[in-house]
Amino acid sequence: MMRQPIGIFDSGYGGLTILKEITAALPQYDYLYLGDNARAPYGDKDFDTVYRYTLQAVQWFFDQGCSLVILACNTASAKALRTIQQNDLPKMGADKRVLGVIRPTSEVIGTFSPTGHVGVLGTQGTIQSGSYLMETRKFFPQVVVSQEACPEWVGLVENNLYHTPEANHFVKLHIDHILQKDPAIDTLLLACTHYPLLMDTIKANTPEGINVVSQGAIVANSLVDYLQKHPEMEKNCSKTGLRQFFTTGDAGYFDAHASLFYGQSITSSKLILAQNP
Ligand code: DGL
Repeated sequence: MMRQPIGIFDSGYGGLTILKEITAALPQYDYLYLGDNARAPYGDKDFDTVYRYTLQAVQWFFDQGCSLVILACNTASAKALRTIQQNDLPKMGADKRVLGVIRPTSEVIGTFSPTGHVGVLGTQGTIQSGSYLMETRKFFPQVVVSQEACPEWVGLVENNLYHTPEANHFVKLHIDHILQKDPAIDTLLLACTHYPLLMDTIKANTPEGINVVSQGAIVANSLVDYLQKHPEMEKNCSKTGLRQFFTTGDAGYFDAHASLFYGQSITSSKLILAQNP
């Protein structure tokens, strides 16, 4: 029987922080990871570009036998997911699904905040889309959500500059900004899958008592729940414990940095996608 892995997509490394938690919660399934490192970052790209790149990746996953693809990237979830779900999926196959990370996070984020004041830190694209404001309002209408784009943070992570004075400067800048917007914030959501790599620097610049939340475990729990509720999808996911990694960038470079995100060493293969889908 052909393998039917669960596809996990990100613009680069960040989705590995999600895959790490998903494989811990659901180790039995097969997983196929693709990082579009050659075209990262997505955070400052326009809607149409992020949509075209993401759709191209989704098609590739389906061609590899996946029925279920998770966009483990907030920017792609914000800018491409809805259009893909509404316009493209109906033409791509009745048994195909694409899920994102914004909805599952919005469904629970209010429970992390005793006072109902949440700060969302993300890429320019995620913040501009307003997706977290809209989604969180549906589930927690009483929660006050403030947002801050942190355009330098993905570059700091992709370039391994976690513990530098430069990282400290830009992390402090944006945490100070968001706390000025709402001094009552008690929960900061890292709404970008790259940001957990800056956790030490973020915590060092966050006042005591503020909860810093990353998405890996949230998305993993949501997938556990989804597979339980959708046996028709669950049966399409093969279970041999396979993990396969692809990058559109340099595979050696990807492998050298990936373990920081994934917590284990990996060996990836290079994938060439048409540059202008
Ligand atoms: N990891 C992506 C996210 O979660 C952002 C990285 C990028 O800008 O490409 O938003």
